[in-house]
Amino acid sequence: MAKILVTGGLGFIGSHTVVELQNKGFDVVIIDNLSNSLISVLDGITAITGTKPEFENIDLKDKQSIKDFFIRYNNIEGVIHFAASKAVGESVNKPLLYYENNINALVYLLQEYKNLESSNFIFSSSCTVYGEPDVLPITEKAPIKPALSPYGNTKQIGEEILKDVCFKNSEFNVISLRYFNPIGAHETSNIGELPLGIPQNLVPFITQTAIGKRNQLSVFGNDYPTPDGTCIRDYIHVVDLAKAHVVALERLLNKKNNETFEVFNLGTGTGSSVLEAIHSFERISGKKLNYKFVERRVGDVISVYADTNKANQELGWTAKLSLDDAMRSAWKWEQKLSES
Ligand code: WQD
Repeated sequence: MAKILVTGGLGFIGSHTVVELQNKGFDVVIIDNLSNSLISVLDGITAITGTKPEFENIDLKDKQSIKDFFIRYNNIEGVIHFAASKAVGESVNKPLLYYENNINALVYLLQEYKNLESSNFIFSSSCTVYGEPDVLPITEKAPIKPALSPYGNTKQIGEEILKDVCFKNSEFNVISLRYFNPIGAHETSNIGELPLGIPQNLVPFITQTAIGKRNQLSVFGNDYPTPDGTCIRDYIHVVDLAKAHVVALERLLNKKNNETFEVFNLGTGTGSSVLEAIHSFERISGKKLNYKFVERRVGDVISVYADTNKANQELGWTAKLSLDDAMRSAWKWEQKLSES
């Protein structure tokens, strides 16, 4: 089977995607610089699939290391590129770190990978490129709005760079996957979300509050123009998201893509409010969550959820797992973490 490079393969979505690639028989090599992941994730992946992926501790900002990598691995038939910084708030405080890590690294990776004849590239993008949508649910034809953060801007710029590369080289095929809100963990609890430090995202903050690592969840605003006053998001199980990456890669490997640059929204198509997410957690855990309402968080959009028709019909992929399934897996993972 083809050898696939997964950059950021020890990260949250990356590690779950490596598992699904191995489950489909792909031979995987991971590049990760361990700046926001742990080497123990490699053991977690191996415990699930029985196959330890090859691993290279490389920082993609180091051009020579990438050159050397593609000399040693000259049979890479596809790349799934996750390696990037992804904290919206941090990107506002450290914009240059985000432009260097998310843009320079992408350019260096492309410069070296493009030297190989068959180029199939899956890009990790985000619904954040849509900003505050005018129409819901959001289709891939929705206008790209000026980014609300340097993080979001790096996703928009990354897609523009890839479009330009495809235009110049018809042998270079790209699918950009725009994630909505990835949550949950693998059912075995061998891998899951590992926020280092205080979680920025809702679900790890919920589970850390419930396990006693955090004192109380602050809900950022309950005065939004939504049914219960809290923001709405499309929470997608990380395993559904991982499976979509395998389907997208196979689309390129089997030359089923219609254009050299394609985009797909990856969501469930259902919007859930923060309070609905909290109630889902309370339902699956049987625990009452300690939370309070505070002021809105700057940069939050009111409501965002996916129109999934294009991914369902063209990609042939549909999210199968529910919000409760994701919360159940996230809670089981948090409990496992607290035992270690
Ligand atoms: C979800 C909702 C918060 C924490 C971001 C990025 C996106 C992707 C996922 C990388 C919002 C509320 C949160 C808390 C809260 N990142 N919340 N209290 O901001 O929708 O998306 O993360 O790929 O690109 O934009 O996710 O989980 O931070 O917030 O009330 O302690 O939960 O206000 O309404 P977000 P989130």
